[in-house]
Order: sequence, then C-alpha cells, then structure tokens
Amino acid sequence: MSDTTTNQHPSESTVSTKQQLFPGEVFANTTDFDTGIRQLLPRYDEMLNVITQCLPTTNIRILELGCGTGELSLKVLNRCPEVQLVAIDYSPRMLQYAKRKIEAAGYIDRWTGIEADFGAWANNSDKLKIGSGFDACVSSLAIHHLTDEMKLRLFQRIRASLTPNGWFWNADPLLPESPALAEVYQAIREEWVTQQGTTVAEIRTRMGTSNTQGTPSKTS
Ligand SMILES: C[S@@+](CC[C@H](N)C(=O)[O-])C[C@H]1O[C@@H](n2cnc3c(N)ncnc32)[C@H](O)[C@@H]1O
Repeated sequence: MSDTTTNQHPSESTVSTKQQLFPGEVFANTTDFDTGIRQLLPRYDEMLNVITQCLPTTNIRILELGCGTGELSLKVLNRCPEVQLVAIDYSPRMLQYAKRKIEAAGYIDRWTGIEADFGAWANNSDKLKIGSGFDACVSSLAIHHLTDEMKLRLFQRIRASLTPNGWFWNADPLLPESPALAEVYQAIREEWVTQQGTTVAEIRTRMGTSNTQGTPSKTS
C-alpha cells in the first residue's frame, strides 16, 4: 500500500484555523470519515475485506487496534457471526461513533470498545485491562502513527497477547522506497480521487490537523 499521509496539513494558512486532532482521526468532523477515507484512499473497502477474509468464521476472540469509526469491526462481525471483538481507540469521539454504528447493526453484544492508547498498552500492559489470549489481532491505518521503536514494542506486546497459533493482520501505509515510487503513489492517489468526483484539495478542506505521532495537544 502506498503512503497515505493522512495527517498532512493542507496549507500553512489554514492550519491555525483547524482543529487539533488525535493522530489518525484525519477529518475534523468524525461524520466525514467514512465518506472521506473512501474518496482519499484507493480501495479502502477491498483492504478491509482482505483482512476480514483472512479470519476464520469460528468462535474466536479478536483484538482490534485503532478501530476508528468501526468500519473494520463491522465487516468482521458481519462475516464472522461467532466472533467476540475487543476494539481499542484513544479517540473518545471515534469510539463513540463506532459504538453507535455497531449498536445499530445489532452486534453490540459481541463488541467491546475500550478507550486506550495502544502505545501505552505496549509500554505497560498491566495498567490497561485489555486482556490476552486473543486468537487474532487486526488493525488498519493506525499503527503507522507510532515511532519505529514503539512499533517494535507493540508487535512484541501483540505476540504476547495472542494464543500460540494466533494471527496478526495489519494494513498500514508504507513510505515509498524512492522518489520515483512516491510520484507513482501520488499519481495513483490523484487518479483515484478524480474518479470519485472530487480533488485532494477539496478533501483536505475537511481534514483536521495533528502531529503525525504521539497524542494530541488538545482534544475536542
Ligand atoms: C485512520 S483511522 C483508521 C480507523 C480504522 N481502523 C479504519 O481503517 O477505518 C486511525 C485510528 O487509529 C486511532 N489511533 C491511532 N493511534 C492510536 C493509538 N496509539 N492508540 C489508540 N488508537 C490510535 C485513531 O484515533 C483513529 O481512530
């Protein structure tokens, strides 16, 4: 997957008027996320579907890191009718939004939302009651907000929290390996956005600002 640069600031002149978000929230209004991410990111649904299809449909426990508005949760719960899902996100408003959608879909008895920073969980798992013995861990578009050092700690924490044969499926942006590839990714992105009937500049007017990594300086 290409570099999605989801927290890129639209321009210096608009940054000061924009809301500071948790890294990864992307859009100033949570209600814009589901439409906006599909306009911005080529093949978002296919990406989540691939993760979902990698999971068994049996009675297993799954941990999701950075659930956002619950789009991956919904796909997993829909495809796997016996799955129990624990979903964590440090953004209260993303988590609330996800919870309302999961409730509306009738899956709330199989979904537990926890407001937590998975970086903090990697550093000190005892402090956060996330649990362990998960059969699988899934994540999309969230882990790249950690530093490389923290990613390694998180991967170790995930390993320790899985059953011996557990799975970890992660879909996340990668930095382009060369300027030439960066240009290719950019061109594909722009072509995709045009096909959606909009422009990257227009989508950016709906985006908030945040640090690429860490926690926000203030929350909404
Ligand atoms: C771009 S959204 C993706 C949401 C969802 N996984 C999807 O694919 O639609 C990233 C989400 O990860 C959350 N997130 C990022 N870093 C996090 C961290 N360290 N702990 C908890 N949540 C985090 C953000 O709050 C945001 O909701």
